[in-house]
Amino acid sequence: MQTYARADEVFVDGRGAVLRDQDGREYLDFLAGIAVSALGHAHPGLCEALRDQVGKIVHLSNLFRHPYTEQVATRLCRLTDMAAAFFTNSGAESVECALKLARKAMHVRGTPERTSFVALEGGFHGRTLGALSLTWNEKYRRPFAPLQPVTWVAPEDGDGLARALERERPAALVLEPIQGEGGIRELSGAFLRRARELCTATGTLLVHDEIQCGCGRTGRFLAAQHHGVVPDVVTLAKPIAAGLPMGATLCSSALADTLQKGEHGSTFAGGPLVCRAALVFLDEIERGLLDDVEARGRELRAGLERLQQELPIVREVRGRGLMLGLRLHHSADRVQKALYAAGLLVNCTAGDVLRIVPPFVLTAAQVQDALQCLQATLAQFPAPEADSQQTQPKEIR
Ligand SMILES: Cc1ncc(COP(=O)(O)O)c(C=O)c1O
Repeated sequence: MQTYARADEVFVDGRGAVLRDQDGREYLDFLAGIAVSALGHAHPGLCEALRDQVGKIVHLSNLFRHPYTEQVATRLCRLTDMAAAFFTNSGAESVECALKLARKAMHVRGTPERTSFVALEGGFHGRTLGALSLTWNEKYRRPFAPLQPVTWVAPEDGDGLARALERERPAALVLEPIQGEGGIRELSGAFLRRARELCTATGTLLVHDEIQCGCGRTGRFLAAQHHGVVPDVVTLAKPIAAGLPMGATLCSSALADTLQKGEHGSTFAGGPLVCRAALVFLDEIERGLLDDVEARGRELRAGLERLQQELPIVREVRGRGLMLGLRLHHSADRVQKALYAAGLLVNCTAGDVLRIVPPFVLTAAQVQDALQCLQATLAQFPAPEADSQQTQPKEIR
């Protein structure tokens, strides 16, 4: 089907934060398969664990136990202050599970009329029908209307959120602590805390979608942990199994018994192969990988801020840890292609933002190489006056 606009490069090999194409050309991979490959490519521990597991059991189904599901669940709950986990195969599925959990929780509480959801402008939660309903960009939603009705609130509009929750009495508020597809847009601690208070006061479940910003990408396991905010439900995916398809929906102890046998399920989810991969990732985190994320994130951010001083095309540096965005005065599309040609893989999000989400294992030297490449490439683009009009819709800024 014609769903992807693919680049021309054909990749055949990789190591750490470097990818090699079929002509032997090397690229710095600062996209990591869209914020997924946290351990980079060909991580030795991951290769060993997967080889071992492939030789034993690849798939089992959730009708039977294997040793690893509970281990991953227990460790994820410890890292997120949650009490129970449901495993999925993708981000969108993690969001779907959160939506069903919220609906069922309202039935259990005796308020089944609370069926609606509140979400934030600029948010992205996936492409399945439920997750798509909560995804702000109309371009994604319009061809599939009608979807589940959603009330939209502007990020940082605490009073607007208070009015929406009071008026709608929704099942849940769903938000990303740092919007990824929305342009690496970080919500303030004050707004996240207010959202928490308002949800508690109105009996609305607070769902944090940390599929892109979670699992350590910002230097803490969850982005909301920088602000001391604990939601009722957290969705995870992307790096959780270091590149294998896996997601998780975690919930508080108050919600742990909400979904009963047969009310949700997945044939593949939480299988032994992906769980072994997740354990390798979690082992690396326990060994101190997030200290590296913080250190490399600081170096990268400092370099990007220098570029902002030097180059008029750079409008703003956004994000935290290794989830960074360089907002340009231009559309970022042409710049992204020029960066590919120069050997640096990043992508373009929200029209004018270069998204920089490298593997957590990148080296300090690779940070400097990428900054040099950005400097040289961005310097070739004209100053803002030339085409500064091409920006995103006002609402999501
Ligand atoms: C915040 C967020 N939620 C949900 C999704 C959907 O994840 P997936 O593509 O794995 O379904 C994404 C994907 O980019 C995301 O960034």
